[in-house]
This record gives sequence, structure tokens and C-alpha cells, in this order.
Amino acid sequence: MPPSTDRLILAEMTLNDLPALQAMMQDPEVMTAYEGPYSDSEVLAWLTRQIDRYHDDGFGLWKVILRESGALIGQCGITWQDIDGHRVLEIGYLFNRAHWHQGYATEAARACRTWAFTELGASEVFSQIRDTNIASMNVAIRMGMTIRSRFVKHFRGIDMPHFAFAIDRATWEMLTDPLFIVRLREKDDSGTTNVDDIDWDAL
Ligand SMILES: CC(C)(COP(=O)(O)OP(=O)(O)OC[C@H]1O[C@@H](n2cnc3c(N)ncnc32)[C@H](O)[C@@H]1OP(=O)(O)O)[C@@H](O)C(=O)NCCC(=O)NCCS
Repeated sequence: MPPSTDRLILAEMTLNDLPALQAMMQDPEVMTAYEGPYSDSEVLAWLTRQIDRYHDDGFGLWKVILRESGALIGQCGITWQDIDGHRVLEIGYLFNRAHWHQGYATEAARACRTWAFTELGASEVFSQIRDTNIASMNVAIRMGMTIRSRFVKHFRGIDMPHFAFAIDRATWEMLTDPLFIVRLREKDDSGTTNVDDIDWDAL
């Protein structure tokens, strides 16, 4: 079963979700990094690909439902991707513009990261991000990811420079290890690290 969080429920999509997905994926601002809005047939092909992935892989990009309203506010999940000739697990995310800047993308992406390590036994998870997409890079950084490589992706007839962000299992375990947090706090007491802004529960 897909993960859920305090504010969000992730779930498999069906063809009934097509109108809500069109509203998101046909918004030019949301689709800037994808070189513009998807046509009706591109959204349908994208949705069909996710439904195939649920069947073939057991996971894919899921819809994100806001618990308080039941509304579909985005999509986030895990897919197999090819990065520089390597088959890797990737966390992807895209949210309705009305729901940006409230921490929902980071909350959903962190839940998917943890799910990939705990449910899939992943050794490493990636996010491939266009080099102009600062908001997406910030989500990757909040997941604990760092840049591993730069590569060019050919998409919709255009060469797009991308960064491969990733977090490996050891780093994820360290970030979520209570002893690591205690040690960091001790270091903070010695005045070498400022941990005041870290949201410990969200790691
Ligand atoms: C990528 C994308 C999902 C990021 O959205 P976002 O709103 O910037 O990210 P989050 O939902 O994690 O919100 C983080 C912001 O919410 C703020 N925030 C407010 N309440 C918060 C809370 N309770 N918890 C955490 N953060 C909170 C954070 O301070 C941060 O502020 P900022 O926007 O000033 O940096 C969004 O820009 C998008 O959908 N883009 C189009 C699709 C896309 O490019 N996808 C990625 C392809 S690689």
C-alpha cells in the first residue's frame, strides 16, 4: 500500500482522476520544467503508464489526497528510470499550483523515500531534476539528497540539462537515527553546529 502522512494520503490513480490531472498538467506554470502543458492525449498516456506500472512494478506515481478536504492536490511516487545508463528508483512529484509553498511536496516525497528504503529494500533513491528547477531541487535537498551527476535528457524534442540528486540507505539511516540526532545536539552545545532550524520529527 502507498504511504500516507499526517496531512496526506497517497493512492493509486484510476481513469476517474483524469480531469484533476488535466487541471494540473495543463497549467503552463506547473509544466514549465516539462516545456509546457500536456495535451489531453499526453495526460491520458501518462496516466495509463502509471496504471501499467502499478500492475507491472507494484508502484508508480500516486495521487496525493489532502486529508482535510479529500481533494487531489498533486502526484508523487516512485518509478524505475534510466539515468546515465543505470536503472534506478526515482522519486517524482508535481503539485497543483494552489497547493505550493505549504510543505506538501516535501512531506509526500519524504514518505516515498522512506517507503522505497523500507518496502522495496532500496540501496539508493534518486530524483532527476532539470537544472533550472530550483523549487524541485529544494524538495530533493529537504529529502536529504545531494547532487551525484549532471546529464542531458532528451524530452519533447529538446536537450534538457538535468542533475541527478540521490540519497543512499546509509545516509537515510544516519539522518533518522536518534543517536545521530543526540550527537548533533551535543555538537551544537559546543557551538560548532546550528541545529535550531531542523524539524527533527520530519527527518
Ligand atoms: C516541485 C514542487 C512540487 C515544489 O513545491 P513547493 O511548494 O516549493 O514545495 P513544498 O510543498 O515542499 O513546500 C515548501 C515550502 O512550503 C513552506 N512551508 C509552509 N508550511 C510548511 C510546513 N507545514 N511544512 C514544511 N514546509 C512548509 C516551506 O517553507 C517552503 O517554502 P518556500 O516555497 O518559500 O521554499 C512545485 O514547484 C511543482 O509542482 N512544480 C511543478 C512540477 C515540477 O517541476 N516537478 C518536479 C519535476 S523534477
